[in-house]
Amino acid sequence: MSSAAKDIRIVEVGPRDGLQNEKTIIPAATKIELIDRLSRTGLRTIEATSFVSPKWVPQLADAAEVFSAIEKHAGIRYPVLVPNEQGYDRARAAGADEVAVFTAASEAFNRKNINASIDESIKRFEPILEKARADNVRVRGYVSTVLGCPYQGEVPLRDVVRVADRMYRLGCYEISLGDTIGIGTPRKARGMLRAVAAEVPVEALAVHFHDTRGQALANILSCLEEGVGVIDSAVSGTGGCPYANGATGNVASEDVVYMLEGMGIATGIDLDLLIATGLWLSGQLGRETSSKVARASVRD
Ligand code: HMG
Ligand code: MG
Repeated sequence: MSSAAKDIRIVEVGPRDGLQNEKTIIPAATKIELIDRLSRTGLRTIEATSFVSPKWVPQLADAAEVFSAIEKHAGIRYPVLVPNEQGYDRARAAGADEVAVFTAASEAFNRKNINASIDESIKRFEPILEKARADNVRVRGYVSTVLGCPYQGEVPLRDVVRVADRMYRLGCYEISLGDTIGIGTPRKARGMLRAVAAEVPVEALAVHFHDTRGQALANILSCLEEGVGVIDSAVSGTGGCPYANGATGNVASEDVVYMLEGMGIATGIDLDLLIATGLWLSGQLGRETSSKVARASVRD
């Protein structure tokens, strides 16, 4: 495999993507403990929360409280999601030094999720990137619905490539390609990755698979074979976008680490600690973990 010798970085999105989609509001103390536990597992990037409108996502209304209270470990990055300048300013006031902006390849989804067309959303990012350059803040970019949209159905590949390329040219250091509703299959995922990588360097790409139909690990493997080196995942397989009908959890971080380590690709993550953290989280959420690796570890 072309990427076997490469260092694969996992972007843990559970505290943000996972907890934004819970039916009940999780106490800030639980969110803080989750992030502090994750910081001890060897993860290098933990997306901590989201400074979006609390009217749209009440689950993360405590973003400033959570971000201010978490232990910040040297060598770990704690990016946060921001949809607009207001979110950027709130994130900065709370001490964030890395943010992620997000749009989609599908107009219909973008309208539902952030009440803007793709063009409008990118216009909103321009002042964020300008400020971020001055503040020395890194900006990651998400492109959602890269393999299908819950409202529009098929999403033309050219739209995925166009939006990813625009976000990269705007100054996002990394573009995370999101299968928001977990509809893709490996061949389609590979084709999508290849098409985007023809315009944006593969070193600047990440993949973000929701596991609605059980295809996420297979999709990740096909993208690893294309040279991708950054994988988004969520501990315990939590996650989903409140504005994407039918989306379920992200691929579980435990399952991704197990697969990579089994392939001889070091992640620097302590799998036992990660499993313990996921089981602790599922206890807090009052349901079984979605990680098959964690479930097997309990049976063993
Ligand atoms: P809007 O209603 O069009 O915006 O929402 P607005 O500018 O008219 O503001 C409405 C109210 O929200 C105002 O308050 C603003 O001040 C306030 P009011 O005057 O009514 O009292 N407001 C804010 N408050 C705090 N922080 C802010 C902020 N912005 C406005 N940043 C908006 C537009 C973008 C704000 C809204 O649609 C929004 O916040 N959407 C976020 C939706 C979201 O978080 N979705 C999930 C994340 S994306 C995802 O999960 C996909 C991903 O995982 C990848 C994948 O899986 O594909 C990343
Ligand atoms: Mg997501």
